[in-house]
Amino acid sequence: AEPELQLVAQRIRSFPDFPIPGVLFRDISPLLKDPDSFRASIRLLASHLKSTHGGKIDYIAGLDSRGFLFGPSLAQELGLGCVLIRKRGKLPGPTVSASYALEYGKAELEIQKDALEPGQKVVVVDDLLATGGTMRAACELLGQLQAEVVECVSLVELTSLKGREKLSVPFFSLLQYE
Ligand code: PRP
Ligand code: MG
Repeated sequence: AEPELQLVAQRIRSFPDFPIPGVLFRDISPLLKDPDSFRASIRLLASHLKSTHGGKIDYIAGLDSRGFLFGPSLAQELGLGCVLIRKRGKLPGPTVSASYALEYGKAELEIQKDALEPGQKVVVVDDLLATGGTMRAACELLGQLQAEVVECVSLVELTSLKGREKLSVPFFSLLQYE
């Protein structure tokens, strides 16, 4: 396979039964620790987005909190700015919010109302797609601002949870695990 992708895959660790029994946790800590692997992950995401959208992206939106580890670097690689989608209660000023289901209960994401103008084209980035609930809430939030989500991307996708089926926009992941 592609050597850059191998660099990324080699730096994702798996921990059984974390945070609860039955869950196989995919840990990106080794990837962040290794500059060549981290750079490879950003370059691969950026080159995918360049080839599918050319220069027609206005902003990258990073998802609190692990999406923040990739959003600004990905934006820089594309010569773009990054806007923040945060968990409830973290952002000052007027915001809009969208809720999503968690294992138990629900959570809310927020964005500042002035983060984007109507019609601006945005790519959402997160570390991992599982059920897709987080990514879908992010898309709903951006829709409230009338921004256009042109694609969602993540480093890791847990395919058996079929999260991409929850999304109404194209989705791209670097690495797929059952
Ligand atoms: C994790 C992960 C994704 C989300 C994926 O975030 O970083 O954002 O879960 O799950 P889903 O597709 O089922 O919604 P988490 O909520 O654990 O918080 P964190 O990023 O702040 O660590
Ligand atoms: Mg997260």
